[in-house]
Amino acid sequence: MIEIWWARLSTQPIDRAWIDDLNSVERERLAAYQRVEDQDRFLLGCTIVRRLLAGRQQLPPARIAIDRTCADCGRPHGKVRAQGAELSISHSGDLVGVAFHPTTPVGLDVELINPGLDAVALARVSLAPAETEELLKADDQAAAFTTYWTRKEAVVKATGDGIGADLTKLEVSPPDQPAALLSWPGHDGPIQLLDIESAPNHRAALAALTDKEIEAVNREAAELLRS
Ligand SMILES: CC(C)(COP(=O)(O)OP(=O)(O)OC[C@H]1O[C@@H](n2cnc3c(N)ncnc32)[C@H](O)[C@@H]1OP(=O)(O)O)[C@@H](O)C(=O)NCCC(=O)NCCS
Ligand SMILES: [Zn+2]
Repeated sequence: MIEIWWARLSTQPIDRAWIDDLNSVERERLAAYQRVEDQDRFLLGCTIVRRLLAGRQQLPPARIAIDRTCADCGRPHGKVRAQGAELSISHSGDLVGVAFHPTTPVGLDVELINPGLDAVALARVSLAPAETEELLKADDQAAAFTTYWTRKEAVVKATGDGIGADLTKLEVSPPDQPAALLSWPGHDGPIQLLDIESAPNHRAALAALTDKEIEAVNREAAELLRS
């Protein structure tokens, strides 16, 4: 079972004392965010990861070793890695989510639907031709594009490719059908995909590198953040 721990910015009090638990890389990243809500999302992601693993490893949150080294450039903005855990962080709009499994690599993506987005322009750089065709038929193109986007991002976050992957080559199922990876030429290995219930006007998807059908459970991070 993959756990997804969610916090909502609109209701979650932010405790600046959480910063004491961050490592120097996380503090530098936090300080670099200009907007308070970006700082809050980042701090929440860090804190949920630390507290989740602290409970499992019987260590204080500050003692959890976290590595965010980017596989492409070596800077500390990559997939979050820790011993004994596979993790994926995503933040957008009101939500911060952390997917966790002890052994199976996971990828989580959540996005707030931006009703003003230019779906056709974005499709050109991120959708496969068959996906663009479906998008053009959709009543709500912003919502349809966001569903496509979260499904694809979940996949490339599970593999660790991130924005390095050419999303036009990775084809997923249409938004009105259950999430599935249809094709991704050049990629080896099993990948499962699932839509995740999140919040109104948001879309979320979870991918995992496994051939078994995946199951996920949504958990409230509020409890974790109180302890
Ligand atoms: C992660 C990414 C796929 C898109 O993220 P997004 O949809 O804008 O934002 P999300 O909130 O959903 O995801 C951000 C999280 O993804 C994770 N992430 C970053 N790179 C990742 C990768 N290659 N694979 C998996 N996860 C990754 C991080 O944990 C990050 O959270 P953090 O703020 O705690 O560090 C990626 O394209 C990105 O933005 N990376 C930023 C670093 C960068 O510029 N990389 C370029 C390569 S040199
Ligand atoms: Zn990088």
